[in-house]
Amino acid sequence: MQAIGLGTSLMPLSAQVLNAPPPPPTGPEPKGPTTSTPADRERRLKWWREARFGMFIHWGLYSVYGRHEWVMENEGIPVAEYEQTAKRFNPEPNAARAWAQLAKRAGMKYMVMTTKHHEGFCHFDSKLTNYTAMTACGRDLVREYVDAARAEGMRVGFYYSLMDWHHPDGALCATDEAARRRFVDYIHGQVRELCTNYGKIDILWYDVSWPLKPDGWESVKMNTMVRQLQPDILINNRAGIPEDFTTPEQRIQASVEPWESCMTMNDSWGYQRADDNWKTPKNIVRNLIRCTRDNGNYLLNIGPKPDGTIPLESVNILTEVGRWMDTHAELIHAPVDVCKVKRGQFSDFIVRGNKLYIMVQFWPGNEVSIGGLKPQALSAKLYGTSTPVKFEQKDFRLRLTGLPATPHDPMVSVIEVEFDAPPEQDNIGVRRNRTRRMVGI
Ligand code: GLC
Repeated sequence: MQAIGLGTSLMPLSAQVLNAPPPPPTGPEPKGPTTSTPADRERRLKWWREARFGMFIHWGLYSVYGRHEWVMENEGIPVAEYEQTAKRFNPEPNAARAWAQLAKRAGMKYMVMTTKHHEGFCHFDSKLTNYTAMTACGRDLVREYVDAARAEGMRVGFYYSLMDWHHPDGALCATDEAARRRFVDYIHGQVRELCTNYGKIDILWYDVSWPLKPDGWESVKMNTMVRQLQPDILINNRAGIPEDFTTPEQRIQASVEPWESCMTMNDSWGYQRADDNWKTPKNIVRNLIRCTRDNGNYLLNIGPKPDGTIPLESVNILTEVGRWMDTHAELIHAPVDVCKVKRGQFSDFIVRGNKLYIMVQFWPGNEVSIGGLKPQALSAKLYGTSTPVKFEQKDFRLRLTGLPATPHDPMVSVIEVEFDAPPEQDNIGVRRNRTRRMVGI
């Protein structure tokens, strides 16, 4: 049993603003063994691919400091001082219910909550340490989260950090075999607790495998155990072996399939009071569209305050995103085809079968044109309406005309065009084959 030290009292800390640390280099994707077969993986991934959009929740003792989830490390706070914060951690009842309601409002389908971040504090009722919410406030906050997520119809994910700045063996394990044995038993034991005590869990989201390699973590053994306990679970790649999906961080880039981009709404995962670098709702919708276009998932973070309430800015952003999702969710949640239309200076694109969805972000006015589209357009309409859009297709240009002067949705308006074959775009063809002229008018 790992004990909370009760020595030093918490020093008041200045409200200094930290720059967010750059995202860690997400180097080459892990290679090596996995603990399931491709067919089984596809079966388990089915709901996740359609879900597309999830809520990440970073919440811990760092939220009390309000200076980013790396505050303990980046400010060099001694362990004995930091852990005193647990005494002040007493969130409002059922805080997680508001998270789940907001996730649903935003059109999200799943949630992933930090059960233990790098600081080592456990939101769940672990029998392997008393550095837990049970000791701090007499509550199992993972249980509350799981119940809240289920009540709103959300799939349930657990984030779990392998790196641990609190456990005495958390760094020693790299150089001392007895420490490694103790620490790996502790980690496997906690993963077992998480996979045993909370019913069906949909996602296990490991993070930071410092300072061991997969062999040292015994990742294959750990994930084999996880799959025995949770046969339908999805496991990410951050225990150093490939498993079910890759995790590009703070960037959207079609990565090794299947992939999920995790991103913050400002520059911090954990609550950072002074971080005002908020993305706009439109940025978020555009990011979601880019993920959808390339068949990835988007895991968007909130950093609740220590009492569990969500920063107002995040509530406002997600409510606006939800307003857009009210009329566009079907475009986001249904499977997509590879998008071979990429170039448009005012829009992004989504392709399904013979249909092209022109996702107009900067409404150009009465006319929208796209160059280089190969198949023949058959019909066009404003998405979600039966209003037909006039069009003409000649040489290299598809012109959609007679459109309203202002967008029908202030964030992203969609025009749906049906072709006689899956839409493709050939920009080089336009450049190469367009008739050029020696003289002008
Ligand atoms: C990084 C950070 C961590 C955050 C995670 C989310 O690994 O260290 O604070 O939880 O990214 O992907």
